[in-house]
Amino acid sequence: MSEDHIKNYWELQGQTHGESHWASWGDNWMIDLEIDTIGKHINDGDRVLDIGCANGYATFRQAALHKLTSITGVDFADNMIAAAQKANQQKGLGNNVNFMEGDVRSLQFPDNTFDMAYTTRVLINLPTWEQQMQGIAECIRVVKPGGTIVLSEGFWEPLMLLNAMRALKNLPPLVEHDFNRYLKRSLLEAYLKKSAPDYQLEDFSSIYYLGSRFLRELVTDPAAYPGFTNPINKLFYEIEKQFSGGGMGVQQAVVIKKRSATA
Ligand SMILES: C[S@@+](CC[C@H](N)C(=O)[O-])C[C@H]1O[C@@H](n2cnc3c(N)ncnc32)[C@H](O)[C@@H]1O
Repeated sequence: MSEDHIKNYWELQGQTHGESHWASWGDNWMIDLEIDTIGKHINDGDRVLDIGCANGYATFRQAALHKLTSITGVDFADNMIAAAQKANQQKGLGNNVNFMEGDVRSLQFPDNTFDMAYTTRVLINLPTWEQQMQGIAECIRVVKPGGTIVLSEGFWEPLMLLNAMRALKNLPPLVEHDFNRYLKRSLLEAYLKKSAPDYQLEDFSSIYYLGSRFLRELVTDPAAYPGFTNPINKLFYEIEKQFSGGGMGVQQAVVIKKRSATA
């Protein structure tokens, strides 16, 4: 899979969808769960970095939810950044919300710049585990000691579990987007144990996936509801907000506390 193909895909998404969340993903319920999960690790007063921010849809939501010193969005797709900057101007949010081009594999910021940094479905766009590790190292590098990094990404193991259950009911397996490489939890944990051992995994999507990627297809006619409008999605989103667990959460968050130099 060529890197141009991946970037071109996101450039076209940025050009086509303007301010809409569809630039990044149609699943508005999952996007809400991501924003909620990440938001719990952001404190008022923080300097925040949203890495792979797309058109800024989630960046603006975090800016509205918290009293931040600043929030900066970076993305490698020029069209995404242009859409984010245009929306930013229209919203008139001022200098504490800003967007610029940048690549997660080589961020332009000095070490220890931000209190908090996060990715949402960004590392899965990198074509190899080596590049994914490089991206993770960059996210950690730009955060201050004692700060927090949240990597909210797609994971391979829960997808396998979900597909095993789907097979029991003769549903076809769900597959990654052609250029996605979902993170392998086993590799990630081995890497973090060495480089950033203060971490925890948060499964915030298992119940939602059970409803939206299994039950929905068994009990309703999926063709009757375009996009993500099936009421099963909303119902399981509401349950997910109260209870999670089960190991089928394809979207999970790795929350890393960066150790101070003396720790
Ligand atoms: C699935 S979208 C997620 C967007 C956003 N984080 C959100 O929560 O909606 C992935 C984004 O990552 C960006 N991206 C992919 N590879 C990147 C890289 N190497 N550096 C920076 N951004 C990248 C894409 O351009 C795209 O906007």
